[in-house]
Amino acid sequence: MKNHQFDAIIVGAGGAGLMAALYASKGGAKVAVVSKLYPTRSHTGAAQGGIGAALGNKIGDEENPDSPLFHAYDTVKGGDWLTDQNAAKVLAEEAVDAVIELEHMGLPFDRTDEGKISQRRFGGHTLEFGSKRLAYRACHAADRTGHMILQTLYQQCIKNNVRFFDEFHVVDTLMNQGACVGVAAVELGTGELHIFHSKATLFASGGWGRCWQVTSNAHSMTGDGAAAVFRRGIPMQDMEFFQFHPTGIFKLGILITEGVRGEGGVLVNRHGERFMEKYAPSVKDLASRDVVSRAIYNEIQKGNGIGGKNYVYLDIRPETVNRYAAEAGEKKRIDREYVESKLPDILDFCRTYLGVDPVKEPMPIQPTAHYAMGGIPTNIDAEVVIDENNTVLPGMYAAGETACVSVHGANRLGTNSLVDLIVFGRRGGMNIAEFVKTAQFIDLPKDAGREVEAEFERIRTSKGKTRAYTLRDTMQQTMNDNVGVYRTEETMQKAIDDLHALRNTYYQDLLVDDRGRKFNTEVLEAWELGNLLELAEITAVSAKARKESRGAHSREDYPDRDDVNFRKHTLVYREGAAPYGAEIPAYRVTVEKPVDTSLEVEDPRFAPKVRVY
Ligand code: FUM
Repeated sequence: MKNHQFDAIIVGAGGAGLMAALYASKGGAKVAVVSKLYPTRSHTGAAQGGIGAALGNKIGDEENPDSPLFHAYDTVKGGDWLTDQNAAKVLAEEAVDAVIELEHMGLPFDRTDEGKISQRRFGGHTLEFGSKRLAYRACHAADRTGHMILQTLYQQCIKNNVRFFDEFHVVDTLMNQGACVGVAAVELGTGELHIFHSKATLFASGGWGRCWQVTSNAHSMTGDGAAAVFRRGIPMQDMEFFQFHPTGIFKLGILITEGVRGEGGVLVNRHGERFMEKYAPSVKDLASRDVVSRAIYNEIQKGNGIGGKNYVYLDIRPETVNRYAAEAGEKKRIDREYVESKLPDILDFCRTYLGVDPVKEPMPIQPTAHYAMGGIPTNIDAEVVIDENNTVLPGMYAAGETACVSVHGANRLGTNSLVDLIVFGRRGGMNIAEFVKTAQFIDLPKDAGREVEAEFERIRTSKGKTRAYTLRDTMQQTMNDNVGVYRTEETMQKAIDDLHALRNTYYQDLLVDDRGRKFNTEVLEAWELGNLLELAEITAVSAKARKESRGAHSREDYPDRDDVNFRKHTLVYREGAAPYGAEIPAYRVTVEKPVDTSLEVEDPRFAPKVRVY
């Protein structure tokens, strides 16, 4: 084992991790980023359509400009009133300055004719408290916005002497005296375990979309950071809310940005009907994602999928877009060159993977598991909190998708993930810089890293009959079938039973062929599967406890939102089992944590209503 000591360890090199590292280092901390991927390969790079900020750059909107207040309202409404309103306020207000900061760092945003940052429409973003007027709020660099954010922030971190440990897989959280004192990580190239001792540790390790079969998430999105924290006794919040993005490439799940609909694209069923007119008569294809995903699912259930199959079309052909724009009385017309310049990656994906040219043919799409609204509970300063009273766990921070601040409530609006990364990553970095100025190093726990080392040895020498990928396929299938866009008590219990059987096989009958230590990706994938199995189960267990429908959690057996009993956050705790081993833990779920309602206390327009689109 090798030992390292830094003031601050940042786990993950996506947008949140890089922003936190940058700000902690600017504040004088000695910072290391530990990441299982090379930083510019992080999943932030898959975010396409834009980062939301109420800049109000749309020409013609000068009389009636956008405002952070409207952005905060949309975030609260989009989250089906489970959003913590203090977090929504921070997100919307600090987004403006954060986007300008990215511009000044050199991020190559698209431009308006006047030279301002170009902004497009996205689902659920409106002006004037949910009125019919859609906001042009998504600041974008073609359809490669996340990719550009990664490149920009990585350069800034290098400039600020942040130390990077690339291809180091964080596998355990080190706790002592009730505080987080660092992490253990496996170096991919050698298989060696490293101990990182720190005063502050920030988890920005992303989501766990790989629990599901059809997902927009990269293979790397296996929730390693969340699982490592959860195994050491920290609860997870609002795990039942996992977003299905409406438009993934059929079967492959690869994201087709909402920016396609923002540029005028429409969804059609086998009859050529623009079906969103029925489900959201006002904003149609630009309703929030939970609404659009359910609409697609309903169309497919009614046999209205293309050829009766489980997909519909997304149509961005200029003639289609221009026809609907004319019907709506809009002046804007698009042509092939416009689509090529605004959505180059989307065109490339469809041409490459499907042999479909979106400027000539509609794209076959289906909802795809996309984003975890839940995760490691934090306050608005990115400090991890461990109970209903928001008690802070010293030394531990989280930001980005792995965290639950909870700014997205029950359903995240498109573009708000990138804002979340930048705004709360920055806050985390600033707070860490202050914290480490006075905090002392707390000793490492006795035998730090030994338990997880033993678990890796168990996996590496497994001689059963079942390979990890077989178990993974079954897990993904059961999650898609039973904890997908719609759920019931029976389907969720079926998922839990299936997951128990898989977990038993994982411990008793796993087979690993590669017994080497260097670049042993087979062992690491088996390790990742263990994380996914646990996160899948706590998703189902949390979902069972929430006996209502809200945002991305749609129960056929409880179809209504129940603000009296369930306008509260879920916390799930792991109990009664060692961090590693064959015993399946008990999971205790509470739905008691209060939602922050500070905006509606001041302004009744923020209070819950039935969502109408
Ligand atoms: O549709 C998209 O471009 C995805 C963006 C997001 O998840 O925020």
